[in-house]
Amino acid sequence: MQIAVTGGAGYIGSHTVVALLEAGHDVAILDSFRNAEADVPDRISEIAGRGAQIYRVDITEAEALKRVMAEVAPEAVIHFAGLKAVGEAVAEPLEYYRVNVEGSGTLFRTMVELGCTRLVFSSSATVYGDPDTVPIREDHPLRPTNPYGHSKRMVEQIIEDWGRSWPDLAAINLRYFNPVGAHPSARIGEAPQGVPNNLMPYVAQVAAGWRDRLSVFGDDYDTPDGTGVRDYIHVMDLAAAHLAALDLTGQRAGVTPINVGTGRGHSVLEMIRMFETVTGRDVPYAVTDRRPGDVATSLADPARAKTQMGWQATRDLEAMCADAWRWQRNRNH
Ligand code: NAD
Ligand code: WQD
Repeated sequence: MQIAVTGGAGYIGSHTVVALLEAGHDVAILDSFRNAEADVPDRISEIAGRGAQIYRVDITEAEALKRVMAEVAPEAVIHFAGLKAVGEAVAEPLEYYRVNVEGSGTLFRTMVELGCTRLVFSSSATVYGDPDTVPIREDHPLRPTNPYGHSKRMVEQIIEDWGRSWPDLAAINLRYFNPVGAHPSARIGEAPQGVPNNLMPYVAQVAAGWRDRLSVFGDDYDTPDGTGVRDYIHVMDLAAAHLAALDLTGQRAGVTPINVGTGRGHSVLEMIRMFETVTGRDVPYAVTDRRPGDVATSLADPARAKTQMGWQATRDLEAMCADAWRWQRNRNH
């Protein structure tokens, strides 16, 4: 199939593009490179043995996007492009709504014009907010707590309403839990600019000696060891979930949200210990105040992914840490 991947040069997008190329699809990456390194497409080609077409385009620029989409003429779209930092979203909500919401609308209009009915969208577990119960099922109420989460919920709503007006639309809203790790080749991975916001890249940078110590944001949560519990998902498993979702869009129309997680939770302290074990290095830490907006536990019920897409995660925390570390080491050299 000919597949357009917006944000395909980014962290999750690049791993998914490799998986798509390896599965024999033709891929066009549409990316502004706002948050991607320029040589990612080369590294994708090295891993996959063949490349994707690259279009440097901003999804909020309607005319340019329309031209590119007409040239690519995709049978399906996987839509990763967007902004994802919660703190930045609180500081710059209008920019987040412009890119995430307006950009998505602009993209969806080009799909209507081209008669492209198949879509996989990067949503997030952040749409659930502070959950009433864990593990979280897809029918849990959506109560995001910050502008980033609101933008993801809005795009899901747009896709749902769009699907009601256009019964041919086959869309899957993948709600990722906490993506971590890297391709085992260590050629692609997450390259946060500046101080990492997320736990795993921060831990990796402490282990590598780039930073002195980790701040553990609170140890008084209602969890087994008091630190936050999350459902970490290996980015390679996440990439495979996109291929499964793509298959599902070929089987039936309609709009379906699907959790992408393992269903297993790990605390901050467990993550630190596993990283120390895998790397043989120390990860010094100090417990600090809670980070505003954090929840105690976030955990997927991954049953729907299994029954509807035939997908389940296969990689454990050890593999996540080992691959994150290999990538971090590669960046050191
Ligand atoms: P990323 O920043 O690495 O990738 C996003 C890509 O989109 C980048 O390559 C960036 O250059 C591109 N981009 C940004 N704005 C653009 C625009 N206007 N036009 C074209 N390209 C643009 O992020 P990621 O971690 O790979 O996340 C991918 C998607 O998954 C995002 O939509 C994000 O919100 C969502 N998501 C991420 C996580 C996570 O923890 N990483 C969790 C849940 C959901
Ligand atoms: C994990 C745990 C922290 C950093 C975020 C976004 C979410 C989604 C994924 C996109 C928590 C603790 C962290 C640190 C720490 N992104 N922590 N010290 O907050 O679950 O989710 O990324 O959709 O929207 O909110 O992930 O990796 O930031 O935190 O103690 O330096 O690690 O308190 O318990 P989070 P995270």
